[in-house]
Amino acid sequence: MADRSDDPGDDPDVPAAPEDADVPARASSRASSPASSRASSPASSRDSSWASSRASASASVPAASGGGVAVVAGGDDAQRAEVAGSLPEVDDSTPLAREVADDARRRIALAGRPLAPPPRTRVLTVANQKGGVGKTTTTVNLAAALAQAGLRVVVLDSDPQGNASTALGVEHHAEVPGLYDVLVEEVPLEEVLQPCPDVPGLLCAPATIDLAGAEIELVSMVARETRLRVAVRGYLERCEARGELRPDYVFVDCPPSLGLLTLNAFVCAEEVLIPIQCEYYALEGLSQLLKNIDMITRHLNPGLHVSSILLTMYDARTRLAAQVAEEVREHFPRSVLRTTVPRSVRVSEAPSYGQTVMTYDPGSSGALSYLAAAQELAERPTSATAAESTPASGR
Ligand SMILES: Nc1ncnc2c1ncn2[C@@H]1O[C@H](COP(=O)(O)OP(=O)(O)O)[C@@H](O)[C@H]1O
Ligand SMILES: [Mg+2]
Repeated sequence: MADRSDDPGDDPDVPAAPEDADVPARASSRASSPASSRASSPASSRDSSWASSRASASASVPAASGGGVAVVAGGDDAQRAEVAGSLPEVDDSTPLAREVADDARRRIALAGRPLAPPPRTRVLTVANQKGGVGKTTTTVNLAAALAQAGLRVVVLDSDPQGNASTALGVEHHAEVPGLYDVLVEEVPLEEVLQPCPDVPGLLCAPATIDLAGAEIELVSMVARETRLRVAVRGYLERCEARGELRPDYVFVDCPPSLGLLTLNAFVCAEEVLIPIQCEYYALEGLSQLLKNIDMITRHLNPGLHVSSILLTMYDARTRLAAQVAEEVREHFPRSVLRTTVPRSVRVSEAPSYGQTVMTYDPGSSGALSYLAAAQELAERPTSATAAESTPASGR
């Protein structure tokens, strides 16, 4: 295998230059205020309905023109290709300039491009019982990218740590109604949804500290595995019955365990999205996760399948990342998204400002990768990737 450190530009999805090469196009209005000091919207301003029938894709990515490159709004791919083609070619002798040029082309190709809504609501559970692999980061950034492309998206924060709620800038202190109330108290989902202040079309059911107790409280409850499914289905049915707009995507961000919260998330979804960190031990624990998914498919939710695997925190300067990526692609040839998400300081900084990287620095390589991943997720056929729940070695 070629040493990627000598060959930084061969995969546009995997920028190889150091993090500083990100093109800052940061939304300046927020960049100076960490989440801790951020004024949160009062509970009374919560609005669980969609702001407009469909958020305008180009209107919702105001900072996407950062980096000095114009963004082609709308969906004319030919026009985008023409603008991208007009950029000067940069050779491999200057990797940094090459990365900047690659990012500029990706920005032209991707930013502001509207996406077609799925025929019916897609419910995806983002799971991996390993912690720190990018579940939350993937959930919030894919959700934001899809909403910025004009789709209606709901995030259910099912991790008591509440990291997705923080990143989406929604209130989640102890008094705020959240997913705990939905799961344990049977509060209708729409009563706890809050709009993400930075991204029109994106709603979040927050996780409060109470959710930590739900894992134990659920044990003795009736229909303990199906409570989230009942809540989500009820919500979608009520949307239809009231003639309201239903979401296009529902993402469930799971805690790093295979307990009852994760089980509820698996039972409520049709698709599982597994983020895998491109590090040593990446595949450790994956067979346990897949066994659980198999078991749930057999007993509780026959429609469940691993639809997508996203390689995250890819460091193209290391051989290890390339080897892990290759191994994962060998095992799961149909499920792994072409796009990989690079390790990026901008991605990890964004939550401390109560934002996703999609608004914090939309021109950065991390944001462009999540945008590309969101487009891939929305445009690839889901049925073709179904049922890849056992490693290829078994086939
Ligand atoms: N692409 C990335 N580049 C840099 N840091 C990242 C990236 N993705 C995630 N992180 C950071 O790694 C840590 C773990 O990510 P997180 O999404 O919280 O994982 P999980 O939800 O699986 O526990 C967080 O601090 C996050 O900011
Ligand atoms: Mg998390």
